[in-house]
Amino acid sequence: MKIGIVGLGYVGLPLAVAFAEAGHEVTGLEVDPAKVDALNGARSYVEDVPDSALAALGERLRDSADHVDLAACEAVIVCVPTPLTSSREPDLTYLIEAATTLSGVVRSGQLVVLESTTYPGTTREQLTPILERSGLEVGKDLFVAFSPERIDPGRTDYTIRTTPKLVGGMTAACTERARELYSLVCDEVVVVSTPEAAELSKLLENVFRSVNIAFVNELAQLCDRLDIDVWEVIDAASTKPFGFMRFEPGPGMGGHCLPVDPFYLAFKAREQDFYPEFIELAGKVNQAQPAFCVERIERALNQASKSVKGSKILLLGASYKSGSGDTRESPALTILRLLTALEADISYHDPFVPELPEFGLTSANLDEALAATDLAAIVTAHPDIDYAQVVARAPRTLDFRGVTRGIDAGNLERL
Ligand SMILES: NC(=O)c1ccc[n+]([C@@H]2O[C@H](COP(=O)([O-])OP(=O)(O)OC[C@H]3O[C@@H](n4cnc5c(N)ncnc54)[C@H](O)[C@@H]3O)[C@@H](O)[C@H]2O)c1
Repeated sequence: MKIGIVGLGYVGLPLAVAFAEAGHEVTGLEVDPAKVDALNGARSYVEDVPDSALAALGERLRDSADHVDLAACEAVIVCVPTPLTSSREPDLTYLIEAATTLSGVVRSGQLVVLESTTYPGTTREQLTPILERSGLEVGKDLFVAFSPERIDPGRTDYTIRTTPKLVGGMTAACTERARELYSLVCDEVVVVSTPEAAELSKLLENVFRSVNIAFVNELAQLCDRLDIDVWEVIDAASTKPFGFMRFEPGPGMGGHCLPVDPFYLAFKAREQDFYPEFIELAGKVNQAQPAFCVERIERALNQASKSVKGSKILLLGASYKSGSGDTRESPALTILRLLTALEADISYHDPFVPELPEFGLTSANLDEALAATDLAAIVTAHPDIDYAQVVARAPRTLDFRGVTRGIDAGNLERL
């Protein structure tokens, strides 16, 4: 098949590669010139896609600056960002722009699928009317569906092929076309009755994680007051073989999804005069977690008769998750901001994030930084870092990820 992908980011690029590797001809439309340059040189900017995979695809993955090329595709998948505005409302600018571009090129018989996470009703109320400006009627001339992306960057045990894919079309024919499309690269395609059911399923998955992470983050704060080891408690509860699912506390929630997506649902709920308490509460608890981490840093320095002001603090990890260079909404950056306001002398080490231009910082050499620091804080636990060595070499270590469990040292504290 000829498949078009609009937006070649964390979601679009792996999907484009999956279709191209399955032998299909993929045309990608990307507006970021840096990404287009990288792709032209077969250089990947997504950790899960190695350069060699891009090089092996040759002409099967073409990135195009010209949206007209999408007219030749049988199906077009939209994977553009869906962030929040500064007042934490859905920002559909990218989606509306992509849909408007598409409305100029769609042709009869084409399938358009939206993958960007969004509130229930977006496919029907936003995407469809814009596409119909083409003069084509959805369900009759043009097929439209929603299929949420479930990619989890860095995960290797589940792939695009082995993760069941949900599809919900505007009509039964739209759903069937979407089912056929994803069957090319997914072992299991699960059909739901409407785009709204598919849109809300994705939000349920993300809100579920957000609420449970907030719950263990709150538990970690309570355990701090009670002087109980939260990790021991979680390990113990996890021995129950049914009715319990393990979630771990941390420095807060990051990435493009969990801190953002629940507010899409809260927005839609408010339109119905409905105020979803769990979503707002989880957001509040998770957003407060970096400040709690800073309080722990203050306390640890205080015990050594030091103030945050002027102390050398080394943050280990700047990205929001282990093994990734993605710093979007990273709690490490909030911690950095709060410590900067307290006039700490901050450095960071992150093998995946070479620089943080907004802070004027570059990733420090770990050995040198450990030798010079007053306190090391493990914010993101990247692989290939010897945390026993961190504890041995730093005067004091604060572990917000539980990776030092099993190490007993007087200069070590955990969340
Ligand atoms: N990253 C994840 O783990 C993940 C997982 C599941 C769902 N999602 C959802 O998928 C969507 C995309 O997320 P992402 O992480 O891939 O974002 P991203 O920012 O990495 O990629 C989106 C890409 O779209 C491009 N773009 C924006 N407007 C465009 C346009 N009009 N035409 C062509 N390209 C355009 C951007 O330049 C960018 O490269 C979001 O809705 C997100 O919530 C992300």
